[in-house]
Amino acid sequence: MKDQLQQLRERALTQIAGLMDEKELADVRTRILGRKGDLTGILRGLKDLAPEERTQVGQLANTLKSQLEQEFDRAEAALRERAERAKLASEFIDVTLPGRRSLSGRSHILNRVTQELIQVFAGLGFQLAEGPEVELDYYNFEALNIPKDHPARDMQDTFYFSDNVVLRTHTSPVQIRTMEQQQPPVRVICPGKVYRRDADITHSPMFMQVEGLWVDRNISLADLKGILTAFVHEYFGPHLNLRFRPSFFPFTEPSAEVDIQCVICGGSGCRTCSFTGWLEILGSGMVDPALYGFVNYDPEIYSGFAFGLGVERVAMLKYGIPDIRLFYENDMRFLNQF
Ligand code: PHE
Repeated sequence: MKDQLQQLRERALTQIAGLMDEKELADVRTRILGRKGDLTGILRGLKDLAPEERTQVGQLANTLKSQLEQEFDRAEAALRERAERAKLASEFIDVTLPGRRSLSGRSHILNRVTQELIQVFAGLGFQLAEGPEVELDYYNFEALNIPKDHPARDMQDTFYFSDNVVLRTHTSPVQIRTMEQQQPPVRVICPGKVYRRDADITHSPMFMQVEGLWVDRNISLADLKGILTAFVHEYFGPHLNLRFRPSFFPFTEPSAEVDIQCVICGGSGCRTCSFTGWLEILGSGMVDPALYGFVNYDPEIYSGFAFGLGVERVAMLKYGIPDIRLFYENDMRFLNQF
């Protein structure tokens, strides 16, 4: 039996030395020291021994048991430490590595320019007004003095939903909606998207405008020129020249388009300004008294002016952008520059 114990001891020590993890350790421990384990199995033979031999072997067995228990405990502690160290190593974070930047959002350049335009006109006393992009024919055309079947409709290739519903072709319908809802004084700025059946290098089927309207007693062409000059000097620079060029719109009389000195060549002539030295940025004019009939304003008392700015045009000139399509391609290399 002593030999058996000795063999068990050697086998146990070898097994303990080769343990891989805590689970295996628990298994081996039960197999050797458990109630149905090897050691218990050997001790079952004690009863057949002579009394003094029994005491001696019994002592040996007890010593072996506590020795093995110690070994198992030590091996368990070692395995636990090893597992912990492996876990720490796998979770190691090198705080000295450069960080991974997350992409942050920002306003689109056209929205930024729109906000800048609103700011300039807010400084001139204009309030914000808005209207729907899906618009009634009445507001987009009829109440703006453009009757059905009138040739003036050809100026704007229109997306029709039905005979009476269109995608607005300009922000001018917001003039009518605003005047319908309040008596003068009216001084509003109306930004928004507009739609036309147009697509080439300089035209997109969707683009943006900022409309302005000021109606009150004694508003004259001098106010129109004063406000628009103040705007150009504030937004593009105090020394930039501008000119008012006679034009026609059914809802203004007289009408003028405003050109600014070419910001690319300074007026000497280049490709951007088609060698004229001038760039068109907006349409404008004195509100045609015919409109007052649609909104119940007394044309004997009130007068006013309106203008419509092309936001893409303004953005291209302000930031030197050569092609309108860049705004809509969502190329981050372009958008991130602003
Ligand atoms: N609505 C016109 C256009 O889109 C611009 C405009 C606005 C002209 C207001 C005069 C007054 O072309």
